[in-house]
Parts: sequence; C-alpha cells; structure tokens
Amino acid sequence: MDNILFNFNNKTAVITGGAQGFGLDIAKRFLNSGARVIIWDIDPEMIKKSSKNLNNPNLSSYTVDVSDYQAVEDCVKEITKKSNIDILINNAGITGPTATLWDYDIDLWKKVVDINLMGTFNCCRAIVPSMIKNNYGRIVNVASVAGKDGNANASAYSVGKAGSIALTKSLGKELADKNIAVNAVTPAGAKTRILDQMTKEHVQRMLSKVPRARFLEVEEFTSLVCWLSSEENTFSTAAVFDISGGRSTY
Ligand SMILES: NC(=O)c1ccc[n+]([C@@H]2O[C@H](COP(=O)([O-])OP(=O)(O)OC[C@H]3O[C@@H](n4cnc5c(N)ncnc54)[C@H](O)[C@@H]3O)[C@@H](O)[C@H]2O)c1
Repeated sequence: MDNILFNFNNKTAVITGGAQGFGLDIAKRFLNSGARVIIWDIDPEMIKKSSKNLNNPNLSSYTVDVSDYQAVEDCVKEITKKSNIDILINNAGITGPTATLWDYDIDLWKKVVDINLMGTFNCCRAIVPSMIKNNYGRIVNVASVAGKDGNANASAYSVGKAGSIALTKSLGKELADKNIAVNAVTPAGAKTRILDQMTKEHVQRMLSKVPRARFLEVEEFTSLVCWLSSEENTFSTAAVFDISGGRSTY
C-alpha cells in the first residue's frame, strides 16, 4: 500500500531526533507532502548521512541537544528570523539502560528524564510563543506505551514519557482557545536503533504484551503523526493517541 500524502504546503516543521528512526520517516513524509522540514538532532554524522540521502532543498538541520534550553532557544531565534514554525514534533528520546530502579545509575536516570521530558518542555517553551503570535500550531509529543503502563526495568524512561503525556494535557488546555493543537502519541515497540539500548529479553517481553503480535512499522506511526500535525486536525487537543497494537486500551 502506498503511503497517503497530506497537504503541508507552506508549512514549516521542526522534528527533534529527526536524523533517523521515527523522526526521519516523519521528515520524509512531510517533505513529500510539501512541508519545509528542519531536523534537530544531537548526532551530526547521522544528520549528514540522512540529509545526503534525502537530498531535498526543503530540508535543513541543526545539531542541537534538546535537553539544553539555551541551545534550543538560540535555534528558535535563528529560525524565526526567516520563517514561522508551524509544526513541532517532539520526538528525540533515549531509553537508557535496562535496570531495576534500585540498581539504576543516578546520573543516567536524570539524563533519560532530561532528554525525554525536559527536552519536550524546552522545545515547547521556546517555540510556543511564536505559535501564539501566529495563532497557528500543531505539536505532537512522542511518548510511549511505557509512559502509560510503566515498564519494569525502565523506570526513568517510563517517568519521562508519563511526564510528557501530562505536559501534553496541561499545555493543550492552556492553548485550547487558539488554533494550536497539542497531542501525544504512545507507540509500542518498532524496529529502530533505539532497541539496541535495551536487552534482547526486555524487547521480547515488550513484544509479548502486544495483541497484534508484531512490531509497529515506522510508516504506520508516521501516518498517525501526519494527521495530528495537519490543518485538518481542528478539534483534537490535549489528548493521547494510542498506537500500541492493542497493548494499551485507554
Ligand atoms: N522505536 C520504538 O520502539 C519506540 C517505542 C515507543 C516510543 N519511541 C519513542 O520514539 C522516539 C523516536 O525514537 P526512535 O525509535 O526513532 O529512536 P532512534 O534512536 O532511532 O532515534 C532517536 C533520535 O533522537 C536523537 N537524540 C537522542 N538524544 C537527543 C538529544 N538530547 N537531542 C537531540 N536529539 C537527540 C538521536 O540521535 C536519534 O537520531 C523516541 O522519543 C522514543 O522514545 C520509540
């Protein structure tokens, strides 16, 4: 089945963690649907490789760590000199190690929460004022089924994603009187590089909980993100959209 394209003509999207995995696939579909795309990623080599492969004049990129507020704000200032930011996909994330809470390295625990939760806060904090000025915005926060269910041996990741779900609900309500939608998505496991950060047993355990009995395909995920990011989404906000193959039914 061919992927459905959307109308993102004249829209500019920032996609964090866009150099590979989910973020890169979203970037591809946005570009094919007429958007200008700006990838933010911490990995300059991966940005270079992916930008070369995409080879699209409507694609630009910044090397930025989303957990560094000042760096995020500096990027936003530079971009908004030339263009609006219409769409923000808060997708950058890491799982961190597979470990019980009492064995978890304290600095790593903070780092996982810093990237998954504070990264989302930082990007929203820096970009939302310009969306308010333009009375237009679509924000999608990439959480995880772990943020709903709480995965054993992944407390930092589960907390970071649960925080991003709560942030979505608060921010969505704060912006509900404007043409700005803020939603979260909660995918189950998909075969991207992020799985390498966890043990094989942990990944198998996650998969065994999915009634669809398979991994999520990145293209399936992108389709949901596209609709939430589109102009057509005029009502849904402050909500959490599940894409976990039946694992989470709320
Ligand atoms: N793949 C899955 O199974 C799965 C399931 C549920 C949720 N998610 C979430 O989806 C999102 C994308 O994950 P993915 O599977 O594509 O993983 P991935 O590892 O392929 O991509 C993540 C990207 O984020 C970037 N990144 C990491 N830390 C960053 C930082 N501090 N600042 C900027 N960029 C940073 C990485 O360099 C990488 O390019 C993550 O938030 C992840 O938690 C993934």
